[in-house]
Amino acid sequence: GVSVGILGTGKYVPERRLTNVELERMVETNDEWIVTRTGIRERRIAAPEQATSDLAYEASVKALEAADITAEELDLIIVATITPDMFFPSTACLLQEKLGAKKAAAFDLSAACSGFIYGLANATGFISMGMYKHVLVVGAECLSRITDYEDRNTCILFGDGAGAVVLGPVTGDRGFKSFKLGADGAGGELLRIRGGGSRCPSSGETLADRSHFIEMNGRDVFKFAVRVMGSAAEEALAAAGYEKADIDLLVPHQANIRIIQSALERLNLSEDKAMINLDRYGNVSAASIPLALAEAVEEGRVKEGDTIVLVGFGGGLTWGAAVLNW
Ligand code: ACO
Repeated sequence: GVSVGILGTGKYVPERRLTNVELERMVETNDEWIVTRTGIRERRIAAPEQATSDLAYEASVKALEAADITAEELDLIIVATITPDMFFPSTACLLQEKLGAKKAAAFDLSAACSGFIYGLANATGFISMGMYKHVLVVGAECLSRITDYEDRNTCILFGDGAGAVVLGPVTGDRGFKSFKLGADGAGGELLRIRGGGSRCPSSGETLADRSHFIEMNGRDVFKFAVRVMGSAAEEALAAAGYEKADIDLLVPHQANIRIIQSALERLNLSEDKAMINLDRYGNVSAASIPLALAEAVEEGRVKEGDTIVLVGFGGGLTWGAAVLNW
């Protein structure tokens, strides 16, 4: 099939910052604990009138500009999110309307923090088989809307934001070389929202027991993340016929600095080979990798010909890695 690459990137974060010091006033925690255990210093919080599709829109407009194509040229929109504006219509359909992407098909993709990499793999499949030419892949979240600000185990971690990329055909040695996707449903209860779906529909009870919020077994997710970040990246590299030493930039899911450091160790990479922005945004789930990638591009950290590895993990459990030449 055709080679598929990234034609443009864009990002958006809301203005409002929630600092560790502010969290100290909300739950029993402190700045020093949060910084040493997670690396996070502040996160962004969407304005009351903003929802996920609004954040997605801002990032998408920038990605389209960077790719130098119009919304009408999009064939498909994929939005990876666990915080859609509503159950349905999909956030991708809401975004299609906002952008005026009249020709585009649109759907949401649910793979938690791995959603963006799952989305890239989907888009690459559609383009390489010749079905579509331009696909917009967005990771966008308003995690503040599903975060329990009475639970110190989780409320220190999450933030709001969006990242978007336009994928299309590329020439030469550019483009995606491999994807590695995985899932382990047995670990589903480690990270989830129980209430509000068809299993435990919204009721007075689900509201009272706070089951509309994220619940997480942090320690087990941590162990899983450390294991899978390294192995997914290694497997994607091997599938592409690349070595660890070929990596110019690692763009990992931004959940915890210690998880990223352990992945770097396993891949024999120094910290300057990783894009890290979790200190400023926290964990933005599906938006985390595209937000980090867009920022790496903005900062001039990616040059033509660079080998980039994207790798993430999340609820499901799910994981994914991608290797691409910029
Ligand atoms: N402030 C102060 N103390 C705290 C806080 C806090 N915010 N949170 C927990 N503690 C306490 C705990 O209660 C515990 O006390 P105890 O020993 O008396 O029980 C102690 O600190 C240590 O707790 P641990 O959970 O062992 O701390 P750990 O070093 O594992 O760090 C953390 C916790 C940061 C949550 C870590 O486990 C982690 O990052 N896990 C991965 C989480 C993750 O990435 N989740 C998102 C996945 S992406 C998605 O799909 C949304």
